[in-house]
Amino acid sequence: MVKDKLVEMREYLTANTWVNIDFKQSDQGKKIEMPPVQKAIRTDQELIALPDVNPEVIQTSNYYDLVANRESRRQFTDQELSMTELSFLLWATQGVRKQTGKHVFRNVPSAGNRHTFETYLAINRVESLAKGIYRYLPLEHALVLETEFSDGAELEEEMKQAANMQSFFASAAVGFIWTTIPYRMEWRYLDCTAKMIAIDAGHVCQNLYLAAGAIGCGTCAMAAYNQAKADALLKVDGKDEFVVYMAPVGKV
Ligand SMILES: Cc1cc2nc3c(=O)[nH]c(=O)nc-3n(C[C@H](O)[C@H](O)[C@H](O)COP(=O)(O)O)c2cc1C
Repeated sequence: MVKDKLVEMREYLTANTWVNIDFKQSDQGKKIEMPPVQKAIRTDQELIALPDVNPEVIQTSNYYDLVANRESRRQFTDQELSMTELSFLLWATQGVRKQTGKHVFRNVPSAGNRHTFETYLAINRVESLAKGIYRYLPLEHALVLETEFSDGAELEEEMKQAANMQSFFASAAVGFIWTTIPYRMEWRYLDCTAKMIAIDAGHVCQNLYLAAGAIGCGTCAMAAYNQAKADALLKVDGKDEFVVYMAPVGKV
């Protein structure tokens, strides 16, 4: 990319887009209804209940140790995760903290509480879950199955391709894949959207690092994935919803 273009793109990282927003021009300013906080499920999908969040899964609760020992992990054992462990990781990364009317507050912060992410899981080895692609529903603290993979090798291959051939992603017990639905942010923040979504994503993944560390697991933030293949794996359109970040989780 030419230098001028790079310098021009820096503008998106500044607060200028924020300060100069004309909120009256936003869909919120035009009194258009707030978009749903969670993507609807299909009529053929059934909720898969997650166990209540149980702090007894935590092996390390010393905050100093969790921060000091945080590191990106790319090698995992072939142990499976329990449903209670998965429940804990989802709660830590996107779980609902409180709800007041239509405003849903989560365990991670988000610019203007817009929360544009959906969490998809590529499940390789989780107690009692068939291999496949699932989606987390924070409001119900439940999962829905998006696509079942009867052939485990096929799922691993698709995960590897989605991760741009970074094969460690496919060796994890579960692959977290976050999409964004940018309109949830654009509805209020217009030009400032890209910066806000990128910052929001960091908070989610950092909570995954710390929560994984607390239960004897490891993870690795991943942004160098294959956009088209990751979107295709989740069956999202790549425009109104697309993958922004992913992270494998497994026992270490
Ligand atoms: C935004 C972001 C994107 C990253 N993408 C990848 C990736 O695609 N593949 C990978 O192996 N590591 C990726 N990493 C992990 C970094 O390589 C890692 O954080 C860095 O080397 C420092 O190591 P540490 O996390 O153990 O401190 C990413 C990290 C961040 C924060």
